[in-house]
Parts: sequence; C-alpha cells; structure tokens
Amino acid sequence: MEFNQKEQQAISQIEGIFGEHKGYRRAHARGAGYKGIFEGSGEAAELTDAAHFQQAKVPVLLRFSHFSPDPTWADAMSPVKGMAIQFKIGFEEVTNIVSVTSPVFFARSPERFMEMLEVSRSFKKGRPKLMELAELLTDFPEVRAMFSSVKKMTVPESFATGIYHSIHAFHFEKGGSRQAIKYLFEPDAGENKRSLKDMKDLPFGYYEQELAERTARSPVSFKLYAIIGEADDPTDDPTRDWPKDRERIFLGRLVIEAPDDEAEQALYDPTVMTTGISCSDDPILKFRRGAYRHSYEKRIAENG
Ligand code: HEM
Repeated sequence: MEFNQKEQQAISQIEGIFGEHKGYRRAHARGAGYKGIFEGSGEAAELTDAAHFQQAKVPVLLRFSHFSPDPTWADAMSPVKGMAIQFKIGFEEVTNIVSVTSPVFFARSPERFMEMLEVSRSFKKGRPKLMELAELLTDFPEVRAMFSSVKKMTVPESFATGIYHSIHAFHFEKGGSRQAIKYLFEPDAGENKRSLKDMKDLPFGYYEQELAERTARSPVSFKLYAIIGEADDPTDDPTRDWPKDRERIFLGRLVIEAPDDEAEQALYDPTVMTTGISCSDDPILKFRRGAYRHSYEKRIAENG
C-alpha cells in the first residue's frame, strides 16, 4: 500500500469531525466534474520539458468543488472553492494540478494539520463555523494568513470567476536546471466576487447549477500562469505566499466544455508529475498523496 498509518489517521479524524459521508470524497465532498481542453503556449519551453506546456493541445478532466468534507453544507459555508485538473498528456499518462481560491493553506506540516484537527474536535457536533474555528486556532500563528483572507468575506461569484492557486511550489526542470514555480489560474470572465452575507440566500447547489448553465451558453476558460520563484521564496511552507511582484509566465489556456462523469469520479492526486516537473519538498504536498488515495479507495468501494 502506498499510504501509511498517519494518512489513514488524518482521514479518520476528518470523518470524526465532519461525519462519515459514504461514497463522497473525505474533503471537497460536493462538486461538479467537466471535460475540457488545455492549449499550451510554449512560453515556458526553456524551463520545462513538460508535454502540455509546449505548443500543444491536450484533453483534460477537471472538477470544481466546495471545500467542506460534508456534502450537505450550504454553498455559503464553503468560502474556499477548488479546481482540480487532470491533463491527459500521452498514452495512459496524466499529470495533475489541484488548486483552490486561497493562496495559502492553514497548516505547514501534517503533524500541525492533525493537531489542529484534534483542537477542532471540541466543536459541538453539527456545523462548525469558520470564525469559531479561527478563534479556536489562535494558538497556531500560521493559521492567520488563511483566515485573514476568509475574514475579508468575499467568495468567487461563480466557480468560473475565481482565482485559483496551487499553494504548493513545484520545480520546472530542463537540461539539468531547475526553477521553483507556483501555479495560478485567472478566469477569462474576470474575477467576480460576492460577500458571504449575499451568499446566504443562494439555494443549495447554486454554484453547480450556475456553472452548468454558463458552460451550456459558451465555453468557460482560464489562463494558467507559472509564478517564478526567487532565491529566498520558500518552497516547503504552504502557509507562506510569495511576494506579489514575482514574474509570471503564461503557460496556456484551459477551456471547460461539458459535464463529465469520469471527471466527477477521478482521483486528482496533486503529486502525479511528468517529465519536466517535480514536486517540492513541501511536507503537506507529500502527505496528500496517501490521504487522497485512501479517500479515493474508500469512496470507490462504497459506491461499489
Ligand atoms: C494535510 C493536508 C490535506 C489533506 C489531508 C487533504 C485531504 C483531502 C482529501 C482526503 C480529499 C479527497 C480526495 C479524493 O477522495 O479524491 C481532498 C480533496 C481536495 N483537496 Fe485536499 N487535503 C489537504 C491539503 C490540501 C491543500 C493544501 C489544497 C490546496 C490546493 C487542497 C485542495 C483540495 C481540492 C481542490 C480537493 C478536491 C479534489 C477533487 O475535486 O477531486 N487540499 N483533500
């Protein structure tokens, strides 16, 4: 087995707090799968051999999601939205990018993540509020960066108008040289936000419904950029964003076409790389591999 006990324990902890929702992902439980196309620009060809970042068109599967591990939570209770992408770059070869609408994560190591989950157990059973969670976690200084963006109380108006971040750093590789990068997706529809207050009146499943209607009218698309890291930019700490002035390279355009069942079921493991890209030493990134595989195997068995 690829995953070890610690990853399994983290999944049990999540289930202990948010409930065991059989057949669903143990995080980002509710979402919508789509198929689409990625058209590489070739602008990073000097930095990476990755096939999809040359001038090339590759099919993709992708899934938008609400971050909550509980699929019954209202759209408004998940201010962080996700976009996971699987690039089909060759015969049976894929590589993934899993991104969210926050530039930072709240824990810098699996141990901290699990400690924080333990603290969160003190929630009365039911529906923890993000702000209560923030108060409980004030002893963890790294949490502040993430909750300060949630405090601004804005959320993308639509899955199609969010700015999505990989959070983790990766390395582009070519001819023996290496460049640290992070990924950023910008919506071609523009970044439209709404306040959490406005979201209260939205019907359950509004985001999924809105995206289905939008893509039926015309394709939804995003520009993908590599943010180029400099010497002191941390590559192993997902709680720290890089300075805003970093150079960006346009990697290509992601076009979302139509709903797709395979995309809804797929496993988007953020550590699945390809020639020309490698994972950084971020311990959270490495931990996700086993946690996602465990969650995937459970939900697939439950869906039997
Ligand atoms: C200790 C850290 C983390 C753990 C234990 C964890 C756990 C999980 C699990 C179990 C799933 C469901 C996997 C599946 O069933 O396929 C998931 C999905 C997801 N996670 Fe994480 N996660 C972590 C960190 C992160 C970070 C840093 C991001 C930011 C990019 C992130 C973004 C997502 C997204 C977007 C999904 C939905 C993927 C999909 O649509 O299939 N997670 N996470």
